Amino acid sequence: MSEFQTSVHVATIDGPSGSGKGTIAALLARRLGWALLDSGALYRVTALAAMNQGVDFADADALAAVASNLDVRFIPSEDGLAIVLAGERVSDSLRTEEVGALASRVAALPAVRAALLQCQRDFARNPGLVADGRDMGTVVFPNATVKVFLTASAEERAKRRFGQLHQKGIDASFDRLLADIQARDERDSQRAVAPLRPADDAIILDSTQMSIQEVLAVVMVQMHLKGLA
Ligand code: DC
Repeated sequence: MSEFQTSVHVATIDGPSGSGKGTIAALLARRLGWALLDSGALYRVTALAAMNQGVDFADADALAAVASNLDVRFIPSEDGLAIVLAGERVSDSLRTEEVGALASRVAALPAVRAALLQCQRDFARNPGLVADGRDMGTVVFPNATVKVFLTASAEERAKRRFGQLHQKGIDASFDRLLADIQARDERDSQRAVAPLRPADDAIILDSTQMSIQEVLAVVMVQMHLKGLA
């Protein structure tokens, strides 16, 4: 099987949920003036579309059909990318724990992953793309110029999530959030297809004790070393 290659410069940021990869990817894309792919959003959109259409989550073929026929657009807006599904802005509904858990189930299905592969690669365009997810550096963009694997302890990630929810005035149980994060980590890293793991040539960064600006500075050094910033 020949490995996919793109001539566009790609920086991949993979890691578990809550590691800060989405924030870093968005800041990096803005700093470089590059396009941004939030691949987790595609799995979340697939889960939400399947929910809206009343699809049976045990039916892998039906879920793959939903992924193949997504009517989704990513529109640049003041607070990042607005995600529009079938004409409706869904950015907020995508971030719920319920949709996240369903996305993780949907993402374990090889047929769904295959259906979303080309769609993800189509985001690559000059002058470059920042792609965040679980398998950006291992499967989707194996020849990416810079690969980062960003992680943090499960407790720290639950703490960050708790803080975000608290800020929005949403009550949450820390123990429940921690258990959800651990269950999702387990499912994402144990699945047979495209499991969560660092690419062999990825730089591994543990952000447990790092601020966003510190992580961004380390990533920018990698971009400099490749002559891209
Ligand atoms: O990053 P996130 O929480 O938005 O991702 C939602 C789910 O999608 C998560 O459980 C893992 C899955 N996912 C994946 O399997 N591969 C990706 N490239 C991105 C996300």
